[in-house]
Amino acid sequence: MTLINRSVAGALLFSAAFIFLTSLSAYGVDAKLIYRTYCTQCHGLDGSGKGVNTESMSVQPRDHTDPKGMSAISDAQLRKAIAKGGLSVSKSVLMPPWGATFNDEELDALVSYLRELCKCSE
Ligand code: HEC
Repeated sequence: MTLINRSVAGALLFSAAFIFLTSLSAYGVDAKLIYRTYCTQCHGLDGSGKGVNTESMSVQPRDHTDPKGMSAISDAQLRKAIAKGGLSVSKSVLMPPWGATFNDEELDALVSYLRELCKCSE
């Protein structure tokens, strides 16, 4: 009984999350939510590069809150790194490619969000 209740609750929660996420996309892109969902396990909740995954990683994720390091990278390179992965910009393969996950609008929104995090421009 409890088991059934749990799976029903799980299914309801999943549908609620799905409806929430799909309704968001109808009203524009929430880059912060995307970042929190897909990027924080490596880059950290605050973007400082200290996510839960990083202890075992041989190359540490970039600190997106570092204005000096981030302003040295162009918007085009940030976008390419996100869409095509670390390797595409001669960085670590540990940075995954997201081009099949996000559309152009979402990729642009992510670049803008990174500029908010670093409080810097290229
Ligand atoms: C599995 C861990 C992981 C995830 C998840 C991840 N990254 Fe990264 N990311 C890295 C690592 C590691 C680097 C550093 C690569 C290097 O310096 O060689 C990096 C570097 C970057 C860079 C800098 C590239 C450059 O030119 O220096 C950007 C931009 C970036 N990540 C954005 C994102 C965004 C946006 C997301 C979420 C959509 C994300 N990352 C998710 C691990 C990750």
